[in-house]
Amino acid sequence: MSEATTTLFAEPAETEVQKVNHLPKEALTASTMKALVYHGPGKRAWEEKPRPAIKDSSDAIVRITTSTICGTDLHILKGDLPTVTDGRILGHEGIGIVEEVGPGVSSFKKGDKVLVSCVTACGKCDFCRKSMYSHCRHGGWILGNTIDGTQAEYVRIPWADTSLYAIPPDADEEALVMLSDILPTGFECGVLNGQVKPGDTVAIVGAGPVGLAVLLTAQFYSPATIFMIDLDDKRLKVAKELGATTLINSADGNAVKRVMELTDGAGVDVAVEAVGVPATFDICQAIVAAGGRVANVGVHGKPVELHLEKLWDRNITLTTRLVDTVTTPLLLKVVQSGKLQPRKLVTHRFALNDIMKGYDTFSNAAAESALKVILKSETPR
Ligand SMILES: NC(=O)c1ccc[n+]([C@@H]2O[C@H](COP(=O)([O-])OP(=O)(O)OC[C@H]3O[C@@H](n4cnc5c(N)ncnc54)[C@H](O)[C@@H]3O)[C@@H](O)[C@H]2O)c1
Ligand SMILES: [Zn+2]
Ligand SMILES: [Zn+2]
Repeated sequence: MSEATTTLFAEPAETEVQKVNHLPKEALTASTMKALVYHGPGKRAWEEKPRPAIKDSSDAIVRITTSTICGTDLHILKGDLPTVTDGRILGHEGIGIVEEVGPGVSSFKKGDKVLVSCVTACGKCDFCRKSMYSHCRHGGWILGNTIDGTQAEYVRIPWADTSLYAIPPDADEEALVMLSDILPTGFECGVLNGQVKPGDTVAIVGAGPVGLAVLLTAQFYSPATIFMIDLDDKRLKVAKELGATTLINSADGNAVKRVMELTDGAGVDVAVEAVGVPATFDICQAIVAAGGRVANVGVHGKPVELHLEKLWDRNITLTTRLVDTVTTPLLLKVVQSGKLQPRKLVTHRFALNDIMKGYDTFSNAAAESALKVILKSETPR
């Protein structure tokens, strides 16, 4: 959090926090809430935490009504993200009702229904002024990472005016919660950076929720062919229902050969990497056509080998991006018009109270045929 913002109230002392965590059930008060807490690699718990309070004047407190789990939360649980420390409440996606706002918040008031963006933006720093909210000097991807997140009954949202989006009270929460992260991610990092155009041949490597979000939003531009490449036939089947024209299961190691055969040796105009491992980046750099674009979306933990000896004369463009969420207002309109139906990505629903079961299902996505798992909060205590 920014040092430049005014601290109105001090955080509860460490000892108070610990005391609250150990309160017996009958001693719970309005000052506590339930939350999904990370306790180091492989360890998560649904436990009592202090309810967040306004800390900086730009904050809002939101009561979560719908949340979901992201592939990135599983990366965190594997211990892949050292920025996430023991005791952190996870989650960077959600919809809720504003409970309270700080004195510096002018666009929202108690009772407003809001979409929480996975990226927090001050709206004023040099990166925000360049529409690069992901690199905001006072925010960026901090929710469920360096500050407590949305898999809880309540969450504190810094820079609320520029990090929350107003939605109608009767909005379809299951559809709109896909706008917290995966839809802007697929659209900005895959489709816009890949410059998908009418008539293009597009290949999307990875048919997880993010790859499928690329698939849905690529169709705004009417590409002629969309290859979907994955190891999981069930996910490929979903991709077919969502508009993929050709499915390729890459388990046999022949994905590159198949794409080259199907494009008469030319390759694809746009290759989108939506997995985050060297093998899938290799597929993308091997299938990109002369003049084409490789748009990387996946979060990579290991280096990849860039084959410049093959690519130097191919006039290609390679892009990387952390989602900025600058397209959220545009995507909100398209979803509300019914032209984009992200609800189709929802496969499972749990009460927020059963989030531990939700994680079990999502961590076992292939066997459970899981894509997005919705968590619905019950009436507040
Ligand atoms: N750039 C960003 O801002 C941003 C934002 C959100 C998520 N991400 C990243 O996007 C990636 C995709 O996210 P997701 O939630 O859809 O993940 P996911 O794990 O649900 O999906 C990945 C898919 O890749 C497939 N796959 C795995 N190895 C493969 C291989 N060798 N060949 C072909 N397919 C393979 C899996 O079967 C799965 O369907 C992740 O790396 C995630 O961290 C990036
Ligand atoms: Zn995410
Ligand atoms: Zn900023």
